[in-house]
Amino acid sequence: MKESDLERRFRVLHWQKDHEENHRERLKGRAIGSQFEQRRSFASYVERLTDLFSNWVTGGTTNRLANDGTQNDLLQFILDKAKSNNDTVSTIAQRVLGLNFAAIHTTSVLFQTATHALTRLAEHPELLAPLRDEIEKSIAAEGGWTHAALANMWKLDSLLRETLRFHGIGLLEMGRKAMKDLTLRDGTFLPRGTIVHTAAHALHHDSAVLEHADVFDAFRYARMRTAGRGAGAKLQFSATTTSPEYLPFGHGAHACPGRYFADNVLKAVIAHLILKYDMKLGGDGVRPADVFIAMGVLPAPQSRVLFRPRKHGGDPGQ
Ligand code: HEM
Repeated sequence: MKESDLERRFRVLHWQKDHEENHRERLKGRAIGSQFEQRRSFASYVERLTDLFSNWVTGGTTNRLANDGTQNDLLQFILDKAKSNNDTVSTIAQRVLGLNFAAIHTTSVLFQTATHALTRLAEHPELLAPLRDEIEKSIAAEGGWTHAALANMWKLDSLLRETLRFHGIGLLEMGRKAMKDLTLRDGTFLPRGTIVHTAAHALHHDSAVLEHADVFDAFRYARMRTAGRGAGAKLQFSATTTSPEYLPFGHGAHACPGRYFADNVLKAVIAHLILKYDMKLGGDGVRPADVFIAMGVLPAPQSRVLFRPRKHGGDPGQ
């Protein structure tokens, strides 16, 4: 029987169970928060917003819940829907917090990824020359900073894919809740309410899945793309192509739709910095290990990257 996409994702979950001990060893001493603490602080925010909304939504001068037709914004859409559903103010507060998270997170993960990549570049300044060569040639060939020029930067793309593989944004990805009892084809039973995640970080660091997975090798995917035959093989290892083995953007029906935008923004920003600046690590010259806050994988706050404008460098696009 053919394994479904969902089942493959769950297989990844089983995989984590088998490797839990090993993975815990790797994270030892670096986790500085817990999911429990996160949930507790979320609950306190819901409480505060609920108080605020109780006064504001149902009383005062605006009385938005009554909808006098003067407000036409996202909050009003939420309120109208909440009214027809008979939802509580606490539910409204949770929806607004969810939206805040989505609005802020989509930008903050871009910076999180850019920071991981920049600390890697500063750790390996020998990567800068081949990247500059590629960026300059791509821009010259396409006559500017076009989408095609960015797409042709395979080494830069490889740096991003390797950054997302190695660091990612979270230890676990693709959280899902079973809304009813569910038995997978391999017999695994998930009672209603079970929350599952893919063990993305552990999977990405498994050398049985990818050779020398514990080594950060910036150009590995550029080499794999060059070696691949046909257009499909060339795309297979681009930063935005998801697979059951590469999950920074999730995989399947709900894979991150913003990833193409994210990829272009990251490439444009990092390419610009590479052309304009030399970089090296500050501090003691050693890249500090990432820190883990609950499920988040973050560059260490004490990381320092020093930038020096290049004497003869420039941005050919300007
Ligand atoms: C480096 C940057 C980013 C990373 C690593 C990232 C990662 C992810 C991940 C892991 C998911 C969950 C997938 C799943 O659960 O199956 C997701 C979902 C999503 N992302 Fe991103 N994301 C990034 C940037 C963005 C940006 C810039 C946008 C919008 C402009 C965006 C919009 C979304 C949306 C709307 C979803 C929900 C998709 C759905 O549930 O169907 N993301 N992203």
